[in-house]
Amino acid sequence: MSILIKNGRIVTAVDDYVADLFIDGEQITAIGKNLQVHADRVFDAAGKLVIPGGIDPHTHMDMPFGGTTSADDFDTGTVAAAFGGTTTIVDFAIQQKGHSTLDGLEVWHQKAEGKATIDYGFHMIVTDMAVERLAEMEKLADAGVTSYKMFMAYPGVLYVDDGTLYRAFRQAGENRTRICMHAENGIVIDEIIREAREAGHTEPAWHAKTRPTRMEAEGVHRAIAIAEVAKVPLYIVHLSSHDALEQVRIGRNRGVDVQAETCPQYLTLDDSWYDRPNFEGAKWVMTPALREKWNQGSLWQGLRFGDLSAVATDHCPFCFNGQKELGRDSFTKIPNGAPGVENRVNVLYDAGVRTGRISLNRWVELTSTSAAKTFGMFPKKGTIAVGSDADVVIFDPNETRVVSIHDKRTHHMRVDYSAYEGHEITGWSQTVISRGRVIVHNSQLETHKGGKFIKRARVGDLLR
Ligand code: URP
Ligand code: ZN
Ligand code: ZN
Repeated sequence: MSILIKNGRIVTAVDDYVADLFIDGEQITAIGKNLQVHADRVFDAAGKLVIPGGIDPHTHMDMPFGGTTSADDFDTGTVAAAFGGTTTIVDFAIQQKGHSTLDGLEVWHQKAEGKATIDYGFHMIVTDMAVERLAEMEKLADAGVTSYKMFMAYPGVLYVDDGTLYRAFRQAGENRTRICMHAENGIVIDEIIREAREAGHTEPAWHAKTRPTRMEAEGVHRAIAIAEVAKVPLYIVHLSSHDALEQVRIGRNRGVDVQAETCPQYLTLDDSWYDRPNFEGAKWVMTPALREKWNQGSLWQGLRFGDLSAVATDHCPFCFNGQKELGRDSFTKIPNGAPGVENRVNVLYDAGVRTGRISLNRWVELTSTSAAKTFGMFPKKGTIAVGSDADVVIFDPNETRVVSIHDKRTHHMRVDYSAYEGHEITGWSQTVISRGRVIVHNSQLETHKGGKFIKRARVGDLLR
């Protein structure tokens, strides 16, 4: 199968020019003016942007959590991602406490294989790391899992203590791999939650009130300090607040190899969403919580000047009916997480590029290139270049739609609400191509399944 995309405005993290792009099989094989080639399929992209497929480095498909399981699996979640202009996800496999991380990886391979429509990689969530198990981390890296997520939050569930952090950090650094950190002081937060419960508070708003930004900042500070001593590259996931970002900046100024991602929800939504009546605030119960609105200015500044290096979704959807409702009598029982894998690329375009907060090139960098580089997929993924995978999106910068679960063109995630219901967004993916296969065209799913596992490279290595 060959595809010719004509006259599009090709935008990468560094380029911006009008040209034709030719795809032969799974790769981009030619870029130039007025390419004279025969193609099985031709798309006229005049007036449209042609960008590398989005890479979402933080999703949770089919994840058991909070007494239930996230509502999208690798089938529905990757289709929704594609509709939103994302052609690669990096999801999180989980080590069962006391069991092999390699067994955890196998479980996630089984969840994804044969189901995913776009390509996918895995981080490994490490829930314990006895000395005898450290050698597994090298085996994971050999298997293409070159990053690990560890939690300072969720005591009794995913939390690990500082000694375990240091031990795993040391090994990850030795192996030229990366640590992803959920940085929040879960031990202190649990005490604050106990106080709130004793005072009789049950509503969703108390999820945010019991998770102060200072406790996120403390986690970031501690993770950076441990990573500095352990000599491992660090990546703070879902950073949500000014206070936490300040700690990233301090660490980077000191010369520590620390990066951080934020998410569209922290850039565009705020803690007033929790005050909606009839328990509706539960839809936005996620961790970290939505913050006071003034934090957003700092986050946009972080994206613009480089202290935040990527935008991920932390897609972890739970239906309002039957799942979020588990917490009707207490905010502590609301499954933590929200849907978003479909909304990332265009929410960032609408709220970032159209408002002048970030440039077109930076938008591409934040939604694709940066994650490819950080997580060992560049230059196979994350750019438009001869020899790169043909993960390409034709994006209409002028189309406006209102996000609604009732408009089939705007919502494909298997969840009964949208975190952006009613938001008017300008800029929509029109054609989405993954490794040379047309997945979506004009709001229609053309190809289902066929996504492959990506064996990611180690820190500093290229993937070809
Ligand atoms: O609320 C969230 N973020 N749920 C998913 C788990 C995590 O902490 O990333
Ligand atoms: Zn997390
Ligand atoms: Zn997450």
